[in-house]
Amino acid sequence: MKKQCLLLFLTVAVYESQTEVLSAQVNPYQYSISKTAQGSNGAVASAHPIASMVGVEILKQGGNAFDAAIATQLALAVVYPGAGNIGGGGFLVAHTQKGKTISIDYREKAPAASSRNMYLDEKGNPQMELSQNGHLASGVPGTIAGLFSSHKYGKLPFAKLIQPAIDLAEKGFVITPAEARSLNGSKSAFIKYNTSLPVFVKSAEWRPGDTLIQKELAATLKRIRDFGQKGFYEGETAKLIVEEMKRGKGNISLDDLKNYQAVERPAIAFDYKGYKVIGMPMPSSGGLLMQQMMKMIEDRNIDKLGFHTPASVQLMIEVERRAYADRAEFMGDQDFVKVPVKTLSSQKYLHERMKDFIPGKATPSDVITPGNINPESEETTHLSVADAFGNVVSVTTTLNGGYGSKTVVAGAGFLLNNEMDDFSVKPGVPNMFGAVGKEANAIAPGKRMLSSMTPTIVLKDKKPYLVVGTPGGTTIPTSVFQTLVNILEFNQSPLDAVNNPKFHHQWLPDQVVIENDFPQQVQSALSSMGYTFQKRGQIGRTEVIKINWEKNKIKQIDVVADKRGDDHASAY
Ligand code: GLY
Repeated sequence: MKKQCLLLFLTVAVYESQTEVLSAQVNPYQYSISKTAQGSNGAVASAHPIASMVGVEILKQGGNAFDAAIATQLALAVVYPGAGNIGGGGFLVAHTQKGKTISIDYREKAPAASSRNMYLDEKGNPQMELSQNGHLASGVPGTIAGLFSSHKYGKLPFAKLIQPAIDLAEKGFVITPAEARSLNGSKSAFIKYNTSLPVFVKSAEWRPGDTLIQKELAATLKRIRDFGQKGFYEGETAKLIVEEMKRGKGNISLDDLKNYQAVERPAIAFDYKGYKVIGMPMPSSGGLLMQQMMKMIEDRNIDKLGFHTPASVQLMIEVERRAYADRAEFMGDQDFVKVPVKTLSSQKYLHERMKDFIPGKATPSDVITPGNINPESEETTHLSVADAFGNVVSVTTTLNGGYGSKTVVAGAGFLLNNEMDDFSVKPGVPNMFGAVGKEANAIAPGKRMLSSMTPTIVLKDKKPYLVVGTPGGTTIPTSVFQTLVNILEFNQSPLDAVNNPKFHHQWLPDQVVIENDFPQQVQSALSSMGYTFQKRGQIGRTEVIKINWEKNKIKQIDVVADKRGDDHASAY
């Protein structure tokens, strides 16, 4: 694979006290962005160069892929505050060197004081401002519980994994042009949704190369280092969260925090033409949507239709439409509602589902009702990790929108999520991703909101072959779907599979979302079949690892970070 390296020239403002670097390999004051890397000992791809380098550094120090995933997530919580987090939640899918498949759910939960109609006014009208911004938008965070839950598969002490994040928060790091733009763009929201001004607001504009120091976040991370999970869910940090809630009329309580638990669940696993695809079960719709979409195309010879031809794109749009209609009707937290996963993923059902597919003609979404069965700002972030032992970890984690609720816990220095908006606040009312839902995803105390996050692993000959995932709200499953189809069916390199233009259909609204560089002639051909389009600057930021084996030994690991952001691939 050709090495792609974008050098980022930063005007580095380094002060005397900040010149310490994390290690010879990780200098937070001067770094560049690489989009591809190769190695045979381990690899990390994530949304930020410093976080990917921290992950690889942990591998070099004897950690495994679980350790690296933990350290990378914690580093992202510092260097990528728009989505990296300790105040949000996520999902982990992993495959161990011993052949065990793991999925860990650390999705946020609705606080105990939540209720079905909490975002409706007295006339029953939705108040999306409340579900999307500020204190009441936050679910009970799950990330720290998830990290500790995954740590039992790691090798290094947690204190070692969190230390790079503490140093980055305490001593600072220089921000990229994209981060400067992003922080400047959110300034008015930070002022509006906080009771005291967070470090993300400064009087002058942020400029590339400025140093961002987060002392309060460093203190919170130290409490987690010293007291473990309790350093977040109890004691000083919990007290600061609840005080913040009181100031801003939020409803997370001390009991909500104390009672939060991450859950290991059986992963979704299905065969696709000799490969085994492993994904996240409910409360993420991601794994099941992938299964539905992949299985609906499996016997249709999509490789013969060709990459980005009107015929192959139309087929993929129509399977996306049908799967998302089912998402809206049936999918939600299985701890609270019965999701008919078995039926929705059965060959018979999916065959039936495609009976009204007409090549060359759009099927309007108003005739695609959810399947007939017998009584299921896009800021999230993904990291893909592989080690020399054969462990692979795929993690997607989120605050939901960019900077989540925009509310920082005063004194604790971290942003809270706005994940409550991923519930269906009222049947048929679209959330911030335009997705609709019904009773299955209605709000209830202690329930987890439905997600689209799709951390995915593909096995070939029972060994890890691909590690894939992306942010992007409801576009996540369709981006992962297209990435897998590009590699497995169209024989594309991971680099092309990630960077080629993406498209997305989610049943409602009935439109195809395309990236600006989506081929014009394919769009024209699809328009004449009856499709309408909406253009978007970018869809997702996909990170892929591909592992080549020679007998039982890893021969080469190729890692690709999406061209669409500051995403960085690191390997050794
Ligand atoms: N907050 C985006 C998702 O979970 O799908």
